[in-house]
Amino acid sequence: MDAFVDTQQTQSPRMAVVNGWQHPNTVEENRVTHWLESDLETMEQRFRAKLINSIAGFKPALLVGTVDTLGRPNLAVFSTIFHVGSAPPLLGLLVRPAPDKTERHTLENILAAKAYTFNHFPAHCAQAAHQTSARYPQGQSEFAAAGFTAKWQAGFAAPFVADTSIQLGMALVDHQVLINSTHLLIGHITHLWVADDLIRGDGSVDLVKADSTVVAGLDSYHSVNAGQRFSYAKVDGIPTPID
Ligand SMILES: Cc1cc2nc3c(=O)[nH]c(=O)nc-3n(C[C@H](O)[C@H](O)[C@H](O)COP(=O)(O)O)c2cc1C
Repeated sequence: MDAFVDTQQTQSPRMAVVNGWQHPNTVEENRVTHWLESDLETMEQRFRAKLINSIAGFKPALLVGTVDTLGRPNLAVFSTIFHVGSAPPLLGLLVRPAPDKTERHTLENILAAKAYTFNHFPAHCAQAAHQTSARYPQGQSEFAAAGFTAKWQAGFAAPFVADTSIQLGMALVDHQVLINSTHLLIGHITHLWVADDLIRGDGSVDLVKADSTVVAGLDSYHSVNAGQRFSYAKVDGIPTPID
C-alpha cells in the first residue's frame, strides 16, 4: 500500500509537467520532463543529440574493419548494428550521413569492396576503441593510431581485429538510403570466429564471458552483468530460467 501511495506522489508532478511544461532542460529529483515534438525540434542541438542518442537504450559497440581501394585498412567503432535474420544470417548497420566537408571512410570502403568485418572488444579496450571514432584522414589507419592489430584472413578482403574473441566477416547484400540520408547496409555473415569457451551447448554465445562492450549514446561504454536467461515464452505458461 505504501508503494501505491508513493507512486501517486511521484506521478502527480509528472502531470503538472505534462500540462504546464516550463523548464524542459531542468532535471529535478522525482520529476519527469515531458518534451513534445516541437520542443525536440527547437532544443539546443548538442543537448538533443545526447538525449536522442541515449534513449534508444544500450547498444552493442563493435569495431568495423574495412579496406580502401588501395588496400589500406580502416577501423571505426559503430553501435547501430542489429539482427536482421538468422536464415540467411543477416546483420544491419546504419551509417549516418557525413557532416559537411567530412568523409565517411567505412561507408565508402564497404560500398567499394562489398566486404567488411565486425569485431567485439572487451571493456579494457574501450578507450582505444573510442579513439577509432576520431576523424583520421583517408589512408591513416585507425588500427595503428588506436593500438589495434589488423589481421588478414586468406580469401577475405577486409581486415579483422587481432586478438579479439568474436569476429565476423560480412558481405554486403543490400544498401538503402533512408529518409534522413542515413545509409542502411545489410550484410550476410560469411565467416564467423568465436572462441570455443564462449559457445554454449545450445549455440548461443556467452557475451558476458567475452566481456563484450555495450554503449549508451556515443560516449559511455559499459560491461554487462550476468543477466537472466529464460525458455521460449508461450501463451499457456511462464518462461523457466535457463542457466
Ligand atoms: C560509441 C560510438 C558509436 C558510434 N556508432 C556509429 C554508428 O552506428 N553509425 C555511424 O554512422 N557512426 C557511428 N559512430 C561514429 C563513427 O565512429 C565515426 O564517424 C568515425 O569517424 C567513422 O570513421 P570512418 O570515417 O573511418 O568511417 C560512433 C561513434 C562512437 C564513439
